[in-house]
Amino acid sequence: MTASDPDSALVAGDIVHAFGTEAVLDGLSLTLPQGEVGCLIGRSGCGKTTLLSILGRLLTPCSGTIRDPFHRPAFVFQDPCLLPWRNLRDNIAFGLTSLPLSRTERHARAERLITDIGFTPRDAEKFPHQLSGGMRQRTALARALAIEPDLLLLDEPFNALDAGLRRLMHDLVRPRVARGRLTVLMVTHDLTEAAQFADRIFVMSPRPARIVAEHRIATPSPERDGAFVYAEVSRLLADAPTAQALLRWRDKVNRPAASRKDGTRNRADSHVATLPHSAGSHPPSQKQGTASYCGWNAPMMHFSFNTATCTWVSR
Ligand SMILES: Nc1ncnc2c1ncn2[C@@H]1O[C@H](COP(=O)(O)OP(=O)(O)OP(=O)(O)O)[C@@H](O)[C@H]1O
Ligand SMILES: [Mg+2]
Repeated sequence: MTASDPDSALVAGDIVHAFGTEAVLDGLSLTLPQGEVGCLIGRSGCGKTTLLSILGRLLTPCSGTIRDPFHRPAFVFQDPCLLPWRNLRDNIAFGLTSLPLSRTERHARAERLITDIGFTPRDAEKFPHQLSGGMRQRTALARALAIEPDLLLLDEPFNALDAGLRRLMHDLVRPRVARGRLTVLMVTHDLTEAAQFADRIFVMSPRPARIVAEHRIATPSPERDGAFVYAEVSRLLADAPTAQALLRWRDKVNRPAASRKDGTRNRADSHVATLPHSAGSHPPSQKQGTASYCGWNAPMMHFSFNTATCTWVSR
């Protein structure tokens, strides 16, 4: 199965969407093959949740097409949206009431997930207001997994979890993907998490968004250790469109060369001149030609633009 096999893939074609006069998606296309984990990454407000809602058929785009072979999609929202009058166990079991399962089967499936997701029987009796933010997120994931979906759309589902719990959640999802029963598209702000979890990373531009880069990671997720993830993040950020979309430029000075009194261009101006797509809405530093990226569970990483090779290098 390949990305060019549209009958067994989630395919978004030329999606355009606006809220009133605010253009959010501008001809966005992506293909996620069945049985893969995709990560969507982009700046806050670029339209990731909007795109996920469109792919989950919760929102109708202004134009464009969605095709997919899935029958049982599940969505984990950015806000966990638990039912406040049900305890943790009943929230997890909620979706099961719509399936042809006996009460005993429903109960057994919910209990299995309560254990798998790291809760105690005592936790299972708690109501949403008695749960931490991370516990609410884990409950929302368990509720989605309970229906045994074939497509899982995850909107920053693990941003309140520490690195160990994130790994546990990945380990819960990954075997279902490996058995070929599940396709996952997850929004994350954390490139290190994407490098750890994804088979394919889609990078969105600032709004109105398009996919500006797509990266395939062939190494199986369980074999990716810390060194691999660090090297992979460096590799991803060496890609100019990805760096342009994600990095936060350290320097606030952005004075065009033409406006300088002596009309000269300093060293950093030439960095800007050689960086592809540097005329975007988030121009890089003209003063230092450097940028930083801070992942959730990785140290701050610093990059410099190498004008000889036209690439970003970590330092
Ligand atoms: N229901 C809505 N009505 C009007 N505007 C909306 C609506 N939903 C989202 N928007 C706007 O669309 C843009 C994209 O929002 P969206 O939630 O998709 O961004 P995002 O990439 O998910 O951001 P974040 O990373 O902060 O979650 C924002 O400018 C937002 O204000
Ligand atoms: Mg969002």
